[in-house]
Amino acid sequence: MSIKWYFYSDTNSRVDEIELILQKRSQSLTSIQKLDDIYVKLEQTPHAILFLKANTVYNVYDLCQEVSALYPHAYIILIAPDNNENVKKAMHVGASNLLTFSSHEEEITEVIIQAQKFMSLRAKQENTPVLQLTKKNTKVISISSSKGGIGRTMLTVNLATALAKQGKKVAIIDANLQFGEVALLFDIKPKLTIYDWVKEGYDRGLFSTEKYMSKHSTGVSILAAPQRPEFFEAITEQHIETAVNELKKYYDVILIDHTSTLSEIHLKSLVLSDEILLITTNDIPVLRSNRLFLDTLQSLQLSGKVKLVLNRDSRKKAISDKKVEEILQIPLYASLPDQGQQVAASINEGIPFLLKNSRVVLSKVIFQMAQKLFSETGNRLEGYKKQKSWLAFSK
Ligand SMILES: Nc1ncnc2c1ncn2[C@@H]1O[C@H](COP(=O)(O)OP(=O)(O)OP(=O)(O)O)[C@@H](O)[C@H]1O
Ligand SMILES: [Mg+2]
Repeated sequence: MSIKWYFYSDTNSRVDEIELILQKRSQSLTSIQKLDDIYVKLEQTPHAILFLKANTVYNVYDLCQEVSALYPHAYIILIAPDNNENVKKAMHVGASNLLTFSSHEEEITEVIIQAQKFMSLRAKQENTPVLQLTKKNTKVISISSSKGGIGRTMLTVNLATALAKQGKKVAIIDANLQFGEVALLFDIKPKLTIYDWVKEGYDRGLFSTEKYMSKHSTGVSILAAPQRPEFFEAITEQHIETAVNELKKYYDVILIDHTSTLSEIHLKSLVLSDEILLITTNDIPVLRSNRLFLDTLQSLQLSGKVKLVLNRDSRKKAISDKKVEEILQIPLYASLPDQGQQVAASINEGIPFLLKNSRVVLSKVIFQMAQKLFSETGNRLEGYKKQKSWLAFSK
C-alpha cells in the first residue's frame, strides 16, 4: 500500500515543517494549489491523507465536510485556527484528525503516525473493494429559464433519452418540487420521491438515493418531485447538494429540471452544475426576463456556464437569431424547431418525443446536442458553425 500525502491551504502558508517530518519518515508531500485539484487527486488515490488548512477564502469546517462527503476514503487532517479549535466540530464534519496553526513538531509527528497506522489497519481489511470512489467526470446540467411553459421539461426528458441512447447512465432530479412533471412525461407513477428520500433516508443519516429513483425502460433514472405540492417545503438546498453528490457515485450525467423561480434550491443547483442550459424563445417578454436572469447569474459569477438554447424556433420569425444573441449577449448554442402538435401528443402519451419520432428534426437536434455536450469541441468557444439554418451549434 502506498500512501499519498497532500496539503491544501487557501492561506499561502508554508508546509516546510510537515514536509520535513514526512521526509524523515521517507514520505513525500504534494502541495495542492487549486481546490479543484483536491478532487482530481482524491478521485485517483485510494490511500490519500489530506492536510486541510483554510481560513481566508473558505471556512475550513465547511470545506472539510464537502471533501469528506465526496471522498469518504480520504483521511483528512484538519488544520484549524488556534482560537477556533474544536475537536468535536472537526469530527462532525468528517475530519479524521485535528491540528492547529500553532501545532509543534511533536504534535504533528504524533498525528502523522496515527494516520499511517490507521491507513495500514484499513488496508488489511481492503481485500474486498469496499471503498466507493465517486464516478469520474459526472456532468451536472441544469435546465433553466426565467419563464414557465417554455420547454424545460420537454428538453430535460428528451435530452436524458438521447444521452441514455448514447450509452450514458442518466439521472434526472425533478427540482420543480411543487408541480414536477418529469415522471409524468415518462409515463411513470413514482412509488418513492425526493420527499421520501429526505424523510426516510437523509434525516436518518442514510444518504444513498438509489432506492428512491424511478427507473424508465430507456435506462433513465428519476428522483421525482414530491407527490403533493405542500411537501416541497421539506426540501432544502442542502438536500439537493447531497442528492447531487450521491448521484455522482453512479451516474455519468445528472440533469436538473427547474422552475422559473430563482429560489435557494435553484441557485444551489446552478452552483453545483457544470453547464446551465438557458432556454429562451424569441419573444420580447421572454428575452427581457432571460436578460435579467443572465444579469443575476453574472453577478454570481455563474454566467460562464450558460449555454443558450432557443426553443420553438421557426422560419417565420420577427426577431432574428443575431438579435437574440445581441439582446442576451451570448451566442446561441442550439436552436430547437417548433414541432407543433407532435410535441404535445408525445407529452400527453408519456413517451419522450425522441423515442416516438426519432427521425424528425427536433429529435435529431436534441440527439446532436447530447453528443456535443460530451464532445471536447462542443465545450470550446469556437467550433460549430451553423449546420442547417436551425441547427445552430455556435459554442
Ligand atoms: N419545440 C417545441 N415544439 C412544439 N411544442 C413545444 C416545444 N417545446 C415545448 N413545447 C410545448 O410547450 C409546452 C410547455 O413545455 P414544458 O412543459 O416542457 O415547459 P416548462 O418550461 O417545463 O414548463 P413549466 O413552467 O410548466 O415547468 C408543452 O406543452 C409542449 O407541448
Ligand atoms: Mg417543467
